[in-house]
Amino acid sequence: MPQSTKGLSTAITRSGPLRPRPGRLLAPDQVVTSPETYLRYRVERLVGEGGFGQVYLARRVGRSPTVPDVVCIKASRRIDGWLREAYFGQVLEGQERAIRVYDAFPLALPDGLVYCLALEYASLGDLRAFLHRHSKGWPEKTARREIAAILEVLGKLHRGQLLHRDLTPLNVFVCEGRRLKLGDFGLVRQQSDQRGASASTLNPLNAPSDILEGTVPKWQARDDVYQVGQLLGMLVKGDASVRVRTAEIRGLPCSDHLKEIVYRCLGERRKRYQTADELIEALRNPPAQLRTGALRSLKGAHVAFTGILTRKRREAVAAAKRAGAKVHGSPSARTNVVVRGRPNPLQAAGRDGGRKLLEIKRLRGLGHRITLLDEKTFWRLAGRR
Ligand SMILES: Nc1ncnc2c1ncn2[C@@H]1O[C@H](COP(=O)(O)OP(=O)(O)O)[C@@H](O)[C@H]1O
Ligand SMILES: [Mg+2]
Repeated sequence: MPQSTKGLSTAITRSGPLRPRPGRLLAPDQVVTSPETYLRYRVERLVGEGGFGQVYLARRVGRSPTVPDVVCIKASRRIDGWLREAYFGQVLEGQERAIRVYDAFPLALPDGLVYCLALEYASLGDLRAFLHRHSKGWPEKTARREIAAILEVLGKLHRGQLLHRDLTPLNVFVCEGRRLKLGDFGLVRQQSDQRGASASTLNPLNAPSDILEGTVPKWQARDDVYQVGQLLGMLVKGDASVRVRTAEIRGLPCSDHLKEIVYRCLGERRKRYQTADELIEALRNPPAQLRTGALRSLKGAHVAFTGILTRKRREAVAAAKRAGAKVHGSPSARTNVVVRGRPNPLQAAGRDGGRKLLEIKRLRGLGHRITLLDEKTFWRLAGRR
């Protein structure tokens, strides 16, 4: 037997004398050896368990220039998630905000194979546990910065036509200094075509409702964006135990701009940021200004109204039509004039965040030219033929 294979066969069976408790794959003090790197790890305790694996805190035995003293060993009986995570560990190597995968190896135990990963340890736990312990919302600045940072990792996946599909607070980790990192790449899928990946084996915890209800069959990048919107809302709210509902966005303790961003992530699928990169852009830049503009005439204009007008909406519509305009119930790609009344205090995402105004910003972002008129200017123009 050649030397290398011989080494492998002894290493694969050497897993320490200890037997785990029922239901556990590894036991405290058990030493596991990686036949891949020949490194040994001493198991300390279970730190978490998901649908796929058990995660143990462990200490490296002996020296290594690359693997830290303390790691997590994620153990599972199933090969599929393990393969995927080991693979994405390689793809995302060098991404500072992805939980590192240091080692991947199978372990031959008396009752069968256990697939192991040695992972970077997130000392402050997963995001849900963290917010449960501290239950205080993060300052907006920190929330924006940290979410934008993990979006960099997601952006890399999206650019490679890959979808994470499991961005729950259980799979986002909090490291020293409250730095967020993305982990658990066990559900990542390649988009089979431009339309997305089949949405069958999903975690219902915070998947978008249209996916759960089966109205849309495929998971797309914008559904990852939905999940990041949930994370963002949960961070500022300081509670990751339940989903953020769209009705509560306007009451979140943050700026109207951030409310707007969360609203766009959680709202209608078609109008969301379409990829991680679009959301990063929104988080890192100041909000688009909604200045009112000038217009010569309403003749031929496609007009929509928003906010509370001083006269009845019906009268305004009639006046606009008399002045030769077409009136739209809500802004669309054909709208080129929007008349803005007094903001309704119950707007979805704060003062500037009525649904119609959000739609205008989105359309402007896509390059549509839309003139915003204040009510006074509108009546002046409507009076003129
Ligand atoms: N690198 C880590 N550092 C700290 N805790 C972790 C780490 N990885 C996992 N955990 C804990 O274990 C739980 C399950 O891990 P996860 O990788 O999400 O497994 P699964 O694929 O089964 O969902 C996590 O929610 C978290 O509480
Ligand atoms: Mg998980």
